[in-house]
Formats: sequence, structure tokens, C-alpha cells
Amino acid sequence: MRDLDAALAKQHAAGLYRQRRIIDGAHRTRVEIDGASWLSFCSNDYLGLAADPRIAEALREGTKRYGVGSGAAHLISGHNRAHQALEESLAAFTKRQRALLFSTGYMANLGVITALVGRGDTIVADRLNHASLVDGARLSGARLRRYAHADPVAAEALTSAHSPALIASDGVFSMDGDLAPLPELAALARQAGAWLLVDDAHGLGVLGKMGQGSLEHWGLNAGKVPILVGTLGKALGSFGAFVAGDVALIETLIQRARSYIYTTALPPAVAYATQTALHLAQKESWRRDHLNQMVQRFRAGAAQLGLPIGDQSSTPIVPLLAGDARTALAWSEQLARQRILVTAIRPPTVPENTSRLRITFSAAHQPHEIDQLLEVLAQGVTNHC
Ligand SMILES: Cc1ncc(COP(=O)(O)O)c(C=O)c1O
Repeated sequence: MRDLDAALAKQHAAGLYRQRRIIDGAHRTRVEIDGASWLSFCSNDYLGLAADPRIAEALREGTKRYGVGSGAAHLISGHNRAHQALEESLAAFTKRQRALLFSTGYMANLGVITALVGRGDTIVADRLNHASLVDGARLSGARLRRYAHADPVAAEALTSAHSPALIASDGVFSMDGDLAPLPELAALARQAGAWLLVDDAHGLGVLGKMGQGSLEHWGLNAGKVPILVGTLGKALGSFGAFVAGDVALIETLIQRARSYIYTTALPPAVAYATQTALHLAQKESWRRDHLNQMVQRFRAGAAQLGLPIGDQSSTPIVPLLAGDARTALAWSEQLARQRILVTAIRPPTVPENTSRLRITFSAAHQPHEIDQLLEVLAQGVTNHC
């Protein structure tokens, strides 16, 4: 039997040990930890909807109508009218023929990739794609060829060398906050006759005037990006995920996506509540405006302080690069002493020597809270840069 204690001790010594903090109460920008109030800058609740009382009320109403569990997988007896209605709303929101709900984004990526490609196929993908896209590719048995991050020239070289069946990219990169070069990838996919899959977990709700994400930002229609993956647990403040595309794609997933077929359907009440979240995310565009102001305020302040934030991100994800895992951990602990919550992100989530604080912003943040973060960073972290 392997010695787990020794392996854990080694992980600890390398500054790579992972621990959870327990949040009491709702997950807002202010959270309660061990009886104290902390200011959080590491959630994906970009629009500040996760604890919105109107969505909570919709969930209450949903549980009154549907109870708690769906009781079965979608293909057995778990598919509820509330799921169907949400799929129709998501298809309309993303301007696609159909959408299919998955329990999580991780499962959506696993399901869609393994349903479409297999042994003998090649997938061309960005080197910094989310773990679920990497794991889906591995599980599929297809060859995975990864190009230098966000580099369309490198993507083109791999595409012409390997004639992939699928090109896959995050729309907004989860740990760096930068945008994938989607117009170039779309042109490449079309030339190569490959599917293009865009996982817009961090773009939907955030980018574009209507919150329709990376595709709205770039002005790309469904024809250019045939497979769109979205998550419901980030900007929408709810839970779950979906794949949107044409009828043939969605029907194929229903037949073949194992992470769709062999799992219990999302609680119908969650699907019901997500309709309210989707409605608010579209209608309350002030949330995107305010969020942008918060990001700009932070970026301007960070630039003045000379913080190592990289300059490519225009999204609410701003990485503060530490390099070494222990340094990132020390920075996170320094912020924690001032009751500011920013988790250190370390390998294998990010490549070696790129450990960081992944600072994220929300429409629920206020200007004085951004200033407070900057003040603490100025006192503490900058001395260690
Ligand atoms: C780009 C990306 N795709 C997929 C996921 C997985 O989504 P979920 O949390 O719904 O499993 C995440 C993050 O969790 C992500 O950052």
C-alpha cells in the first residue's frame, strides 16, 4: 500500500498542499469565516447574483413545485418541464437551435468531447485550456496536440500538420483572464473542416452588451463556433452547465455523452431558479458596467503600484503573478491577516513557476473595497515582489 502520509507531507513541504476555508452563511463579496467578516476577491460570482434574493425566492418556488431531487437520469424519468424550459431559454440566449443541460461544466466538457472524437482522431487545443477540456480529450482516446497559449500561428501550424477533428479553447482563460483569439480559431476550424468548441465558462454573462459572452464580444455567430459550452455556476450565480449547438449536435450528445446519460438530472428547482438568474443577467446590464468600473479601478491602482498583474486581461479575472508556489501562499496569507480572501493558485492548476493570486471582481464590489484591496497589496505584497 502507498504511504499517503508521506506523499501529503511532501506536498506540504513544496507549498502545494490544498486546504478549504469554511464559509458561514451566503457566498457574497463579504463572507463570514470563523465569526469574522472577510472581503472576498476570488469567487466566480461575477455579476453578484449567487445570493440574489429573487433567485433564492425562485428556488423556493421551484422546490414547492418540484420537490428536491429529479430522482433519475434525464433519459429515464428525470427530465422535467423545468429542464426543458431552461434548455429552450439557453438556446435562445445563445442564438442556437438547441441546448442541453449538464450537471456541471466539468461533465459537459467530458461529455461533448468523448461523444464527438475518439481513437484515431486528433484534438488541437490551447495549452492553458481548463482541466476539464484536457481530461475530456484524454478520456476520449484522441491524440491531443497543444499549441502555445492564445497563439493563432502555433494553432495553425498544428492544424495543418495534424488535420484535427476538433479544435478546443476556453473563451476567457480561467486563470489568466485573457481572451482566446476566437476569430482566428474559427477561420482555422472552417479551413480544416474541424469542429470548434469554445468553453465560455468565464465569458457568458460578463462579456458583450447583452452578456452573451465571448461570441458577442467578437461578433461571431453560431456558424463560426458550432459547439458552445457554458456554465451556470459562475456569472449566473446558480449551478449546472450546458452545451449549445444545432439539432444534430444535441441529439448526438443525448445518444452518446456518457456524463449526460449516466448521472442523475439536476434538481428541477435549480433549473427553474436559473431562469430567473438568466433573466436578471441579461436585463440588469448595469451589473456589467459596474463590474467593468471595478476592474478598471483596480487595474489603474495596481499599475500605479507596479504590481505584477500582466496587462492582457480586460475581464474580471486579474492574475497577480508570484511565480513560486510558496510565495503565492505567503501573499495569500498576508491578505488573510487583513481579512481579505484571495486563494493562492498553484500547480497543477497553473504551470510550474506561474503560481499566482487569481484576483476576481464582482458587480457586488464597491469602489472603497477595491481601494482597500489595493491598500493592503501596497503595504504587504509589493514589499515581496
Ligand atoms: C473554463 C472552465 N470550464 C469548465 C469549468 C467547470 O465548470 P463547473 O464548475 O460547472 O464544473 C470551469 C470551472 O470550474 C472553467 O473555468
